[in-house]
Amino acid sequence: MPEKEIKLTRGVPPTESFPIHRLADCATTALEQFGPEVLQYGPAGGFRPLQEMLAAQAGVSPDRVIIGQGSLLLQDFLARLMLHPGDLAFVENPTYDRTILSLRRPGSTVEGIPMEPDGMAVDVLEARLRGGARPVLLYSIPDFQNPTGSVLSEEKRRRVVELAETYNFWVVEDVPYRQLRYRGTDVPSFFDLAPQRTLQMSSFSKLIGPGLRVGYLILPDALAKRFLDFVEEAYICPTYLVQAMVYDFARRGWLKENIGFLKSLYPPRLEAVLGALDEHFCELGSWIRPEGGFFIGLTLHRPVTQPELGRLARQSGLWILDGRDFHTDGSGGSFIRLPFTALSPDDLREGIARLAKVVRQAS
Ligand SMILES: Cc1ncc(COP(=O)(O)O)c(C=O)c1O
Repeated sequence: MPEKEIKLTRGVPPTESFPIHRLADCATTALEQFGPEVLQYGPAGGFRPLQEMLAAQAGVSPDRVIIGQGSLLLQDFLARLMLHPGDLAFVENPTYDRTILSLRRPGSTVEGIPMEPDGMAVDVLEARLRGGARPVLLYSIPDFQNPTGSVLSEEKRRRVVELAETYNFWVVEDVPYRQLRYRGTDVPSFFDLAPQRTLQMSSFSKLIGPGLRVGYLILPDALAKRFLDFVEEAYICPTYLVQAMVYDFARRGWLKENIGFLKSLYPPRLEAVLGALDEHFCELGSWIRPEGGFFIGLTLHRPVTQPELGRLARQSGLWILDGRDFHTDGSGGSFIRLPFTALSPDDLREGIARLAKVVRQAS
C-alpha cells in the first residue's frame, strides 16, 4: 500500500480551524445590518467600521489604514508604487518567496540580508549602507519570520530604525504571525518604534481564514493619499462584505477567542516537530526553536541537490518546497522550510522521520 501523503509545503491553517458557523452568522449580520453599503461601490480604503477599528488599535487616523484583498496584493501595489527599474529593495535572506517575486516585478533589484538566530544581520545591512547602497525600502518579517521562525531582537529593531532615519529608506514590516505567540513576550514592532518610517502590513488570513482575503496596511501620513489613489485606480474598492464579516467577528469578541483557540491548537504541533527534529536531525542540521508562528527553518549541515531531494521525498509520499525559492541569490541548497500548523502531530512526526531518511540519501 502506498504511504500516506504528507505535505510539508504550505504554510496554511488547517481547515478544521475555520470558524464556519460563526462566520455564517457574521455574513448574515453583515448583509442585514450593512447591506446597502457592502453591496455598493464605496471608498477605496475599505469597510469604514473595520478601518476605524484597526486605526483605533494602532492609534492612528483611519485614513492611514488601507484594507485590501489580502496583504499580498497590497504588497504588489506597494512594489508598483514605490519601486522603479534599477531601484534597490532589501529583504531578509531567506524571506517569504512571493515577496521576492512582487518586489522584483517593477524591474528593481532585491538584495538579501543574511539571517541570524535573532533576525537579520544588521551589521551586514549597515556595512552595505556605509558602502553606498541606497535602498528605497527594507522589507522585514520581524515576528516568527516566514520561513525561519525567528524573531528580530529589540536591539536590532532599534538599530534598523536608526539606519532608516540616517539613510532615508522605508521599513516595510509584515506581521501576519505577530499575534500567534505561544511563549515568551512581545518585542516592540517597527511601527511602535517609528510610526512615520514604517509601513506595517498584516492580515486576517492566519487569524481567521486565508480565503477571506482580508489584509491591511498602515501607512505613514506621507504615503497614505498616494496609496489610496493607486488602490482606487486598480479596483475602485475592495470586497466590503468579507471585511464587514471580519468586523462583526471582531466586535463580538470572536476574533480574540479564535486567536486563543489557535494558540492552544498549534503548540503541540510545534512541539511535535521540535521533538522529531531532536530525534532525527541532530547530526544532520540545525534549527531555532520558534516561540510562535507557522514555521521552523531547518538548515542542513551540508547542501543537497534540492530537486533531487524533492524527488526522493515525493517517492516516499512527502512533499517539500525547494529551499532556494526563499532566497534572493540562488543559495538555500541546505535550507528546508517546515510549516507545522496544517498537519496533526502524528503526521508531522512521520513527515520529519521520512525527511531524515531522504536527506541521508540525497547527494
Ligand atoms: C509573511 C507573509 N506575508 C504575506 C502573506 C500573504 O498573506 P495574505 O493571505 O494576507 O495575502 C503570507 C502568507 O503566507 C506571509 O507568510
